[in-house]
Amino acid sequence: MQMLALSLTIILMLVVLASFVFVIRSTATSSQSQAVALEAIAPTAYRARAVIFIAVIFIGIFVAYKTLMPWPHPNHSQGTTQSVDVKGVQWSWDLPKAKIKVGDDVEFRVTGADVNHGFGLYSPAGQLVAQVQAMPGFENKLRYRFLVPGKYKILCMEYCGLGHHRMDAELEVE
Ligand code: CUA
Repeated sequence: MQMLALSLTIILMLVVLASFVFVIRSTATSSQSQAVALEAIAPTAYRARAVIFIAVIFIGIFVAYKTLMPWPHPNHSQGTTQSVDVKGVQWSWDLPKAKIKVGDDVEFRVTGADVNHGFGLYSPAGQLVAQVQAMPGFENKLRYRFLVPGKYKILCMEYCGLGHHRMDAELEVE
């Protein structure tokens, strides 16, 4: 995705550059012949400008409509299946044995016992799917709907001392 964005950016930059070069080269004629040429193309150019203007407005409306379609997002505070209290401790996760089934909406209430930790939830495929800070004195809520069964991992995402790398826990989703 990032490579695509980069390639597109470079291509569009080249198009802009080429347009500049074209305009600079095409204006390098005498001002009199320029005025005559301008008069000849003016009506066509104005028409083209109006068409492009209207087209851009329609494209804008279309893109806005398509990208805003998923709104409003479902309210996750309703229908939460269960709450799980999580506490980050140097250097482990204090986590109750929770029974989670596919489709469950789980609300993690995350806090820290000593220093700041990072609660990172990884899917069975090893992808980070949700994260929140685990801070002493605060309870951060993180809601996640488990749609894929398997073993999820919880890893610490903030360096919290010598045993930081040992802070992992597992969550089984049936
Ligand atoms: Cu806890 Cu890093």
